[in-house]
Amino acid sequence: MHTTRSGPGTVARTRRSQLFRLKPVDAIVAQHEEDGGHGLRRSMSLWQLTALSIGATLGTGIFVILGEAVPLAGPAVVLGFVLAAVTALFSALSYAELAGSIPVSGSSYSYTYATMGELVAWVCGWCLMLEYGVSVAAVAVGWGAYIDDLASNTVGAVLPAALSAPPGDGGVVNIPAIVVVLLAMALLLRGTSESARVNAAMVVLKVGVLLFFCAVAFTAFRAGNLAPFVPMGLAGVTAAASQAFFSYIGFDAASTAGDEARDARRDLPRAIMLSLLVVTVVYCLVALSAVGAVPWQQISGSDAALADVLSLATGQTWTAVLLSIGAVVAIASVVLTVLYGQTRILYAMSRDGLVPPVFSKVSARRRIPVANTVIVSVLIALLAGLVPLGELANATSIGTLFAFALVNVGVVILRRTRPDLPRTFRTPLYPVTPVLGVLFCVLLMFGLGASTWVVFVGWMLLGLAVYLGYGYRRSALRTGA
Ligand code: ALA
Repeated sequence: MHTTRSGPGTVARTRRSQLFRLKPVDAIVAQHEEDGGHGLRRSMSLWQLTALSIGATLGTGIFVILGEAVPLAGPAVVLGFVLAAVTALFSALSYAELAGSIPVSGSSYSYTYATMGELVAWVCGWCLMLEYGVSVAAVAVGWGAYIDDLASNTVGAVLPAALSAPPGDGGVVNIPAIVVVLLAMALLLRGTSESARVNAAMVVLKVGVLLFFCAVAFTAFRAGNLAPFVPMGLAGVTAAASQAFFSYIGFDAASTAGDEARDARRDLPRAIMLSLLVVTVVYCLVALSAVGAVPWQQISGSDAALADVLSLATGQTWTAVLLSIGAVVAIASVVLTVLYGQTRILYAMSRDGLVPPVFSKVSARRRIPVANTVIVSVLIALLAGLVPLGELANATSIGTLFAFALVNVGVVILRRTRPDLPRTFRTPLYPVTPVLGVLFCVLLMFGLGASTWVVFVGWMLLGLAVYLGYGYRRSALRTGA
């Protein structure tokens, strides 16, 4: 007689196979195509998707980080921006390939579900909460600082510290940070098309302000300011590149809009590559014109480095006001688009049963996830208003790099397991590019400080506990829901 023995070994094997169960690509794509009139509205054009990615990318990095990167590399900060762009490029190519073959809203979370299974997908989704959720809160705090700057330059008044900093940072609550998150929420609740239109206008304005910066700074350009070009050697260039990498985070935002794109397969890869191209050109021009206009030693690590350059180059103070307006708009658009991305990633995770169903409930009238948007926005507003973010914000970069590394691995796995899958974009020089993508991400991860790693590991352990306590039991793949 045939008997089945199910000892502890069998149970462990079954559990392991469930943890790494893949969500078939065909099932993901079918779910995306079936949604028809019931799910999110497919309204976004190529231009709006590109603006979504530029909106999420171009912000605090160029307005603030440039000032911190210049003292590390001198005029060669330009090379630092190029190096950071190359690092971002490898991962962008991988994102473009996967977004063209698995065109759904979950970004790298969905890609890893299809290639490395549920546990890795959960880990990736949990990392994306650092890239998106925590970074919105951190960016909102930066927005408050620029509002203060603008207020003091125009009306000569600033908010009292009690109302512009959280407890622990010398205040009680950070009101501007809360306000910008709630404004973004109000816009997102009006609908995706409205948000996309407003974002597109903000993108035009912020790119315009940066081009204005370049035009003015180039008029003061002195070749002598660029000599010697690499005063701190190669080490300075790589240090500047690590700083500059932050300013490229966000190019992947279009991949969170798969279910709302008019033609996701065709447009997502284009939007990702186009946005990276636009921000790279803008960043390199801004960096070159800045170090050409004034001796680099005069570009301090101040928050308003770009405004300082223009004041020094022209002797006019109104330029600082214009730059501050640009920064306020730029950072508001990062808050809007990244908040949007976070809601859509949770939407995808909720459809898979890994987070509660309330996150994938779509309003029949507005065709957006209303409850999801409100819950996520309120939580992020509280985080931004009440918690000093310091270390947690650093964890944004490490979480992002980890998610990027997984996407590069995903490309290699999918090429092997599903060579037949229709791909609207293929990474050139495969497998060199995704392999270099992984290596660069790991390299930059190890360049981050020990305390960042501690926060990251703590965050991961918390994520695992949440998964074992909730997602593992409720997974749609497991329950067959
Ligand atoms: N790249 C985004 C910024 O610079 C995070 O604000």
